[in-house]
Amino acid sequence: MTMFDYVIEEAQLNDAREILLIINTANREAFRSIIPEEHFREPLLSLDEFLERTKRMTFYVCRSKSRIVSVAAIELRSGKTGRVQHVYVLPDYQRRGVGTALVTHLERRAREIGLHTMEVVTDERAEWAVRFYKKLGYSLASKIENPWGFNLLLKKQLYVKRDI
Ligand SMILES: CC(C)(COP(=O)(O)OP(=O)(O)OC[C@H]1O[C@@H](n2cnc3c(N)ncnc32)[C@H](O)[C@@H]1OP(=O)(O)O)[C@@H](O)C(=O)NCCC(=O)NCCS
Repeated sequence: MTMFDYVIEEAQLNDAREILLIINTANREAFRSIIPEEHFREPLLSLDEFLERTKRMTFYVCRSKSRIVSVAAIELRSGKTGRVQHVYVLPDYQRRGVGTALVTHLERRAREIGLHTMEVVTDERAEWAVRFYKKLGYSLASKIENPWGFNLLLKKQLYVKRDI
């Protein structure tokens, strides 16, 4: 594994175009092979759709030498739950621990604001993503049908309940 310097911080409004490029590039590379053509969206998000999402979720970026190499967002859900959204690492930077660092950062922020649970939805066919989240401690909560198969809802408790 090659190490490199990076910082993780909340995204700024002027990061929008770079973030969008990462989401659309990494999504195309990863999901085109598993989502049937008639359902595959390319690009996944327009600038307007992305800006709309920033109103209901907080985006974080991982910068290396002032270039954004990875993005992820956290969305507040009911029941002290945060949903991990849009986790994308640029193809050249994958498998170097960036995704793990970014999701771990989201979980830390979630604890700081008092959330108890994190969840994420991913395509059952995205075996790499399921493996990634399981390694981070997420486990299967339910299966949700989509037009070509199933999405998986994975959950992780942020606090360990202890008997006093
Ligand atoms: C999935 C993704 C976010 C993981 O980020 P990453 O920085 O590459 O992952 P890490 O280096 O932190 O990997 C941690 C572990 O996850 C698993 N993993 C990550 N990528 C994997 C892959 N392509 N195949 C199999 N396992 C994988 C491995 O267990 C890995 O540990 P290891 O490298 O010691 O074997 C990233 O590869 C990505 O952006 N993929 C394309 C988009 C995507 O699928 N996003 C998730 C949408 S829900």
